[in-house]
Amino acid sequence: MTTTRITKAIFPVAGLGTRFLPATKSIPKEIMTLVDRPLIQYAIDEARAAGITEFIFVTSRGKSALEDYFDDAPELEAELRRKNKADLLEVLRHTNMDSGAIAYVRQNRPMGLGHAVWCARRLIGDEPFAVLLPDDVIAADRPCLQQMVEMHAETGGCMVAAMEVAPHRTSSYGVLDIGEDRGTVVRVKGMVEKPKPEDAPSTLAVIGRYILTPRVMSNLDRIKTGAGGEIQLTDAIAEETGSAEGVFGLRFQGQRYDCGTKVGFLQATVAFGLARPDLKDEFADFLHGYFAQAKAAQ
Ligand code: UTP
Repeated sequence: MTTTRITKAIFPVAGLGTRFLPATKSIPKEIMTLVDRPLIQYAIDEARAAGITEFIFVTSRGKSALEDYFDDAPELEAELRRKNKADLLEVLRHTNMDSGAIAYVRQNRPMGLGHAVWCARRLIGDEPFAVLLPDDVIAADRPCLQQMVEMHAETGGCMVAAMEVAPHRTSSYGVLDIGEDRGTVVRVKGMVEKPKPEDAPSTLAVIGRYILTPRVMSNLDRIKTGAGGEIQLTDAIAEETGSAEGVFGLRFQGQRYDCGTKVGFLQATVAFGLARPDLKDEFADFLHGYFAQAKAAQ
């Protein structure tokens, strides 16, 4: 099979982030910091590792901090140069995006993830594209989107990243109805958004990484409001399960953290903090001491 190289990625960042109020009253959720980097930086790095060269942000009011983050910071850079802080200059260099590599489109109202993706339709054209939700942060030896791009070269069609969830958690996810289970990859015959456990076709849930065909954009054009009064991306992908190209779920290797929730963000902070060579000893000592003290106090 000949598949087109995937060079464009959409980052939907127009949500309200209400689960992090009051912080998100003035700070975009995607700028919130995991150790010392904003969530969006993890998603950008993952996309770059997978070969993405064009980055499309779907933004909304109040997200200007996000746009500034990717710009050059001439005064700051001059000051660091004056102080010979080569290491910090290198850190900053990593955050800059080449002129023209990044595009912003606006979602005027938060009408759901499907609607946010649809807002980028004119920038996508007739090629498959990736979608990354920055609040899903994935720790993996091989970045999750790279795993997907490699598998997609074999399968074609649409692909979603998938992971097993506890049966009582299905109502928080889009869940796959599995047509053919090939182990690492499954062919999908249906998708249900946030089913109750008794209605869930499986416990294989979709997380925030997708490779989609342009047909999904056409489907979004037609789709009316789905579950929860929002335009669901799941519905537009589910329409493709019957197509010749099909829809595939990849059981990716890695640990996903739901940084859209407080508990998930805290879990990610501990895991990423302990994974940092420069922080792990002091941080682990603190955690050990903290739990020992809490146990002694019981
Ligand atoms: P969430 O479901 O986490 O919604 O969106 P949210 O608004 O960000 O957060 P809560 O639920 O109010 O706390 C998942 C992803 O889809 C984007 C979000 O920015 C996030 O990256 N999104 C969601 C949009 O871009 N537009 C929307 O209308 C909805």
